[in-house]
Amino acid sequence: MALGKPLDITMTDMEFRMICELLKSRCGLHFDEDSRFLVEKRVARRVQENDVGSFGSYHFLLRDRGRGEEELATLIDTLTTNETYFFRELGQLTALVEEIIPEVILRRRALGSSGPVTIWSAGCSSGEEPYSIAALAMEAGLNPAKDLRIYASDISRTVLTRSRRGIYRESSFRETTPALRSKYFIEKDGQHKVSDELRRCVDFIHLNLMDRDKIALLGTMDVVLCRNVIIYFDMETKKRVIETFHEKLKPGGYLLLGHSESLINISSAFELQHLKNDLVYRRPAPGESLSDPWHELASAAVAQVEDDRGPR
Ligand SMILES: C[S@@+](CC[C@H](N)C(=O)[O-])C[C@H]1O[C@@H](n2cnc3c(N)ncnc32)[C@H](O)[C@@H]1O
Repeated sequence: MALGKPLDITMTDMEFRMICELLKSRCGLHFDEDSRFLVEKRVARRVQENDVGSFGSYHFLLRDRGRGEEELATLIDTLTTNETYFFRELGQLTALVEEIIPEVILRRRALGSSGPVTIWSAGCSSGEEPYSIAALAMEAGLNPAKDLRIYASDISRTVLTRSRRGIYRESSFRETTPALRSKYFIEKDGQHKVSDELRRCVDFIHLNLMDRDKIALLGTMDVVLCRNVIIYFDMETKKRVIETFHEKLKPGGYLLLGHSESLINISSAFELQHLKNDLVYRRPAPGESLSDPWHELASAAVAQVEDDRGPR
């Protein structure tokens, strides 16, 4: 439908509260008075697009079991921030491929088990994060298709479609070196497409982090990355989502948050690990303390990677 002239309606306090409450309970997104102008403007466009005439009727539409789900997904797309780029917070991704993954592999071997290291990029936006992990893993001498299983999820279907297409604009490459860019991306007609080799390494899934039933269908993980996502949630939702990650992580598994995020006042179930390249959270294994063999294994893993690689 053509939008034409903007709809001249004002959101009442009650309508604002009802819509924010629905967004919070269904997808964890938190909007307060400071974001009222933004919410009102964007919801007004959806009211107009759906031709329902008022915010009240639109709220009713969102609660509809059939059409409501699809409309909520569209509304979320207009309200969420999908900002991301390749190799964002590189120190942390380096810690993942050079310290965490080797430690998990070594710990597995010590326990006599095998299988790929499972990694979940939760809130992956348009896919730059999981593709960066696959590229860095290859650079570190791993074979992501065999050594890793990378899952990437987001609530927005629009960004997931972009992830799967794997075609990116210039702004996604602001932190990408020319060497990595020419190795893992193909340039054609002014567009940059991620190589098939990288695309094969990542499984994209549509997932709302509030949907515990669907999350239960995912297996347990060695590493969860949830970077620059929980900043948009209120305290109650942050606690709930972090609790879910704790359940999904194997004992000894790692949780990587964005650099502006921490677990202070949210959870005490994780311990902070000082790695060479970054600080990360870890779900302790039962009965483990700071003097336990894990620390020796971690140091041994890092030393081995450095030996294998030789002097830089
Ligand atoms: C700023 S992006 C972060 C992308 C990437 N992790 C990074 O750090 O570059 C935040 C993403 O979280 C997603 N998101 C927000 N709420 C969500 C929810 N309840 N479930 C799943 N994803 C959600 C948004 O759709 C958005 O793509």
